[in-house]
Amino acid sequence: MKNPLIVVNFKTYAESTGEKAVMIARYCEEVSRDHGVGIVAVPQIPDIYRVASSVKIPVFAQHIDGAGAGSFTGHITAECIRDSGASGTLLNHSERRLLLSDIDSALTAAKKAGLTTIVCTNNVAVTSAAAALSPDFVAIEPPELIGSGIPVSKADPEIVRASVAAVMKINPEVKILCGAGISRGEDVAAAVELGTSGVLLASGVIKAKDPRAALIDLVGKI
Ligand code: G3P
Repeated sequence: MKNPLIVVNFKTYAESTGEKAVMIARYCEEVSRDHGVGIVAVPQIPDIYRVASSVKIPVFAQHIDGAGAGSFTGHITAECIRDSGASGTLLNHSERRLLLSDIDSALTAAKKAGLTTIVCTNNVAVTSAAAALSPDFVAIEPPELIGSGIPVSKADPEIVRASVAAVMKINPEVKILCGAGISRGEDVAAAVELGTSGVLLASGVIKAKDPRAALIDLVGKI
């Protein structure tokens, strides 16, 4: 995947559900192609199949469980989301927190299915713990800035710097994203200058009056 990477979490917003998820993913694909920047679409799990069938950019799940094939009910397996067209997954988002042991088993299931993994973290200690489990990415997101429109890369650069340093010490193979309040190209540029490989964002694109224009602005400074 290209660096820097822009990961767009569709959350459960009405503006990015069902056919609207396909529309936003098409904007992501168009901007990724026209500007040469990697963009990942992260729709709700029931929308993965329709989104992944409509675009060529990577589509990730918002969550998976550690359960595999067998006598389990109501679980989301790595194999099922992969077969639906996803190539990766978020884990432990602040809005879908897991125990460390659950993150570990979900990571094991994801790796076995060949999925790219992004473990979200809320502080430097959790970033360190997540890095020790060797996901492909950790994404540091201070919960208080989520949905605030105040970019973490400007409001709290220290948490990003400290997360980068912690990951370098524990597992330098793991790449780092940051998120919360990111909505402008300058926020992405600031994130990259702090040593990250890109950003994870939602409302800056999904709730924008013109999501396509918001995406173009986001990639404008990198
Ligand atoms: O997963 C991205 C997220 O939690 C940040 O949300 O709306 O602040 O970009 P937002």
